[in-house]
Amino acid sequence: MKSFAGRGDIALQPKKDASMTDAPSAPTDQAAYWNKTGGQAWGDLQDMMDALNRPIEEALVDRAFPGVGKQVLDIGCGAGATTLAMARRLGAEGLSLGVDISAPLIEIASGQAAPGARFVQADAQTYDFGGASFDAAMSRFGVMFFSDFDAAFANIRSGLKPGAELVFACWRSPADNPMAIIPGRAAAPYLPPSPPTDPLAPGRFAFADPERVRGILGRSGWSDVDITRLDAPTPITLDDLVTLSLRMGPVASALREADETTRGKVRDAVTTALEAEAVDGVVPMVAGCWLVTARA
Ligand SMILES: C[S@@+](CC[C@H](N)C(=O)[O-])C[C@H]1O[C@@H](n2cnc3c(N)ncnc32)[C@H](O)[C@@H]1O
Repeated sequence: MKSFAGRGDIALQPKKDASMTDAPSAPTDQAAYWNKTGGQAWGDLQDMMDALNRPIEEALVDRAFPGVGKQVLDIGCGAGATTLAMARRLGAEGLSLGVDISAPLIEIASGQAAPGARFVQADAQTYDFGGASFDAAMSRFGVMFFSDFDAAFANIRSGLKPGAELVFACWRSPADNPMAIIPGRAAAPYLPPSPPTDPLAPGRFAFADPERVRGILGRSGWSDVDITRLDAPTPITLDDLVTLSLRMGPVASALREADETTRGKVRDAVTTALEAEAVDGVVPMVAGCWLVTARA
């Protein structure tokens, strides 16, 4: 068993060369995105994101919990909420290891001490987990960003004991998550035309097609693959949803180069569009996800 002694270890030495630049749609370099603007925004919005995504955390931790004192990997752990939730279930004798490529997010995660929780800044696609020692792996929205999905899931499997379970939540299609596309449509008249995006490129909707997920897991050596719908109520205030829409996702990327006038117009258009979805200032958003399980 590899020692994960230090919280916030820096461990970015890949086992093999991994190109991060072959994703044809923006952001093309996921490592750079999550270490800069994406990681910064997710970190700034951490409290909101964790409150919003708590139903998914609960579903994930309940399903992935392998027993007190066991060892669990949290892939793409972000600021660490799910890693910490699992650590509380495992107890101080257990190990909940959060792995994330983002330095700013691992820094936030590492600032939250908890017995049995450890964090490593690393690319989960290539990181050497030190042998098949983990009893489970889980991820909340952290496995859709790899440049080579087959290699990444084979690498994650290498860290698990034979028969150990992988449990992850990923988003279904944009159509199943309309609050993610309404802001882009509302902002479009004020922004330069964006190039067509490849739905299969690394990104939040890369796992919308369950057959694609099944194929990736099968080719990377997982068995007993099960994919079920998870519709998690994630109500959010109108103000928070406007903030989120302008900080993360395609509108945020397009606004990076925009002047103040354009920003104002986009903010107004996005607010008006989302206002139409709100009831008493709250948008009754539902996260349309897949809950995926498989065995090493
Ligand atoms: C949508 S966020 C989810 C964060 C966290 N799981 C949560 O639910 O709050 C996606 C996370 O995946 C991480 N990530 C992306 N590519 C990664 C990779 N190759 N290895 C490890 N983490 C990665 C990002 O840095 C980011 O923290």
